[in-house]
Amino acid sequence: MEFKILQKQAIKNQVFIIDLEAKISQVPEITESETAYLNTCFADDQNLITLNRYGYFIFIYLVRPKKTDALTSESIRKSGADLQGISNKYKLADLLINNISTTANAALLLAEGIALANYQFLKYRTNAKKITHTLTTVYFTKNSATLKEVNQLSITVDAIYKARTLVNEPLNFLSAEQLSAEIAAMGKEAGFKVTIFNKARLIKEKMGGILAVNRGSIQPPTFTIMEYIPKKAINKKPVVLVGKGVVYDTGGVSLKPTLNSMDRMKSDMSGAALVSAAMYAIAKMQLPLHIVALVPATDNRPGENAYVPGDVVTMASGATVEVLNTDAEGRMLLGDALHWAKRYNPELVADFATLTGAASAAIGEHGIVCMGTADDQTKQAFRESGFRQYERLVEYPLWDEYGDQIKSDIADIKNTGGASGGAITAGKFLEHFTDYPWMHFDIAGVSFATARKGYTPIGGTAYGMRMLLDFLIHYGRS
Ligand code: BES
Ligand code: MN
Ligand code: ZN
Repeated sequence: MEFKILQKQAIKNQVFIIDLEAKISQVPEITESETAYLNTCFADDQNLITLNRYGYFIFIYLVRPKKTDALTSESIRKSGADLQGISNKYKLADLLINNISTTANAALLLAEGIALANYQFLKYRTNAKKITHTLTTVYFTKNSATLKEVNQLSITVDAIYKARTLVNEPLNFLSAEQLSAEIAAMGKEAGFKVTIFNKARLIKEKMGGILAVNRGSIQPPTFTIMEYIPKKAINKKPVVLVGKGVVYDTGGVSLKPTLNSMDRMKSDMSGAALVSAAMYAIAKMQLPLHIVALVPATDNRPGENAYVPGDVVTMASGATVEVLNTDAEGRMLLGDALHWAKRYNPELVADFATLTGAASAAIGEHGIVCMGTADDQTKQAFRESGFRQYERLVEYPLWDEYGDQIKSDIADIKNTGGASGGAITAGKFLEHFTDYPWMHFDIAGVSFATARKGYTPIGGTAYGMRMLLDFLIHYGRS
């Protein structure tokens, strides 16, 4: 999707954002009968009205304030998705947004909804040409958005598209090595450094967690390190992002039940997609932050040499883990990555992982379960970004008692914590490998959509990207 500020082009299809019925009169060439029609629609609680001008379309969008600004913003994004549907139905190629309401960012929010809804993954469709959306460009009138805002939106949308595509790619394309190659390509395009560790290097670094999970695989694991250092960073110590890169999760020897439970397991690298595409956005936006991102990657499958329940694995940190379920593989990878993060002496580490069905069961697809040891100010900043972007966070506690649930009889810890508190015991496992301010985001419930909802098409969602970028854009500036 392309975004442009209107210069001299004549764009006929136009949406007017209004906040008062009376502003209808500002729409060019509006007739009395159109005005009467609009007023009837608005009285009937509709808020997005199409006027067919025979040759082009005029859309009138009435912003109705909701209980909070965050809810109003979200309703505008959702209307953007509605407009995206209508525009493609009428085979429009472009659309001009003219915000004549008093809601300053309404045009951007509407455009965001349009763009996020307009995403398609057509690589494997032989009829791709025929079904490609016609809508390609959104214009803004000069009063509707600034160049900086449009630029930021454009980069954010690009990053979300890239992350969604990585999630949508199946294992038979996106192996761990291919994931690393895709990240390297993003680094080249956006301007951040990418270093890829191969299996030999993982062995040298004693990354026992990643190697254990990889034992059942026929393809080698990777560990990808991204680094973005701007000319003038406002943080002295880096922020480190970590993303779970399980390119497919069968459960391993503790095989998932075949009925449906593996359908979406190509998406078990959503955390990796999120942090690597976030790096793309960070570099493109030239944020004044020193940021590192780490992606441990492998598939998890049964195999002759696969790790089995009962195995004791020595992690990169030297800690020993009794494996009781090979399906609790994400924490094995992340333990090594979180240990690696210590060498940067980080100011903050944030990991994103499709870690537990428990997080998904607890709050469903309406938010992210998070927990961590970062200070209250950092947590508050994340929470606010979450509400602003409508990618909301729920914080779970890391009480000591949950730590007791992962005590092993024969090793330092075990990789499962029993029937209750599954999202938190997974978090406690990760905490074991941290010694810095840290936040864990369990995106299992939100990373993949099985039905289109608002501006979220089926497939990878990149849920959390706008929250994370919003957080980083505001980082250290309060
Ligand atoms: N990748 C899964 C978690 C998941 C489940 C993500 C559903 C998306 C949708 C993870 O590796 C896993 O299998 N977790 C287990 C842990 C358990 C064995 C302790 C789970 O949640 O059941
Ligand atoms: Mn698993
Ligand atoms: Zn998994």
